[in-house]
Amino acid sequence: MQKHLLGLEGVPREEIELILKTAFSFKEILSRPIPKVPTLRGKTIVNLFFEPSTRTRISFELAEKRLSADTVNFSASGSSVQKGETLRDTIRNIEAMKMDMVVIRHSAAGAPHFLTRCIDAAVINAGDGRHEHPTQALLDMMTLQERVGKLEGLKVAIVGDILHSRVARSNIYGLQTMGAEVAICGPKTLIPVEADQWGVEIFYNIDDAIRWADALNVLRIQLERQRTGLFPSLREYAAHFGVTRARLEAAQKDLIIMHPGPINRGIEIENDLADSEFSVILNQVTNGVAVRMAVLYLKSGVTETLE
Ligand code: CP
Repeated sequence: MQKHLLGLEGVPREEIELILKTAFSFKEILSRPIPKVPTLRGKTIVNLFFEPSTRTRISFELAEKRLSADTVNFSASGSSVQKGETLRDTIRNIEAMKMDMVVIRHSAAGAPHFLTRCIDAAVINAGDGRHEHPTQALLDMMTLQERVGKLEGLKVAIVGDILHSRVARSNIYGLQTMGAEVAICGPKTLIPVEADQWGVEIFYNIDDAIRWADALNVLRIQLERQRTGLFPSLREYAAHFGVTRARLEAAQKDLIIMHPGPINRGIEIENDLADSEFSVILNQVTNGVAVRMAVLYLKSGVTETLE
């Protein structure tokens, strides 16, 4: 077991299997009348968020509380980062207050890797720029495994803004390691030039991707990261690549529909479809807490077994 979780690239299948198995055990614990264990009592974890987040931030904090860890939350806004303090100084000051683990989200790819060179605490990547979002991919895989039973041989198409997506990269690494087949689909301008090296099918037509896939992971159009001109308009994107009930019905398939959130309803996915019988979007959010408990427990160095 590696000390940090910086990404899923290169993480061996046995480690992913152990995280998923542990997450299913924690999910059972979370269904008990008292959904809490003393596993990380005495450990202190800081959640460093330099970018906005709803799901990841809340679910890490909840996971830490369910494990009985002490938690500290840091947001760049309102901190001395706004006075010009560097990431290295920020984290070394925080570590001087005796933190055991650090969860970090940052707009710069590689920020979590940089932290591992500044501090001794275990570092968990909660999303770094366009690079990776490993716990999102783990909760996506847990949700698929829960629904289908296995990942081996499953066909998963990741649809939309692949260019800007850390979720796509982590899912591709994780799913391929677990023996799933992966495709990406989107307009040419949102598919990175290096994608032909990734060992994935590439579709430029959403109906072809729907016919191929067992599950669609529909990505958010990242309005805040778009450079101008990557596609003509949101309306045109929705018309050509939006996932709709009519498209699923035309393919006559019971697809699993996933989305990491936040959703641009009516753009990458039809409003009603996001809440339909095809959707496991809220199951993903539920599983996020169990996955993050598993990661924190396994990276904490605590050897006490779960009950
Ligand atoms: N999926 C995800 O990372 O959502 P947040 O940005 O709300 O954390």
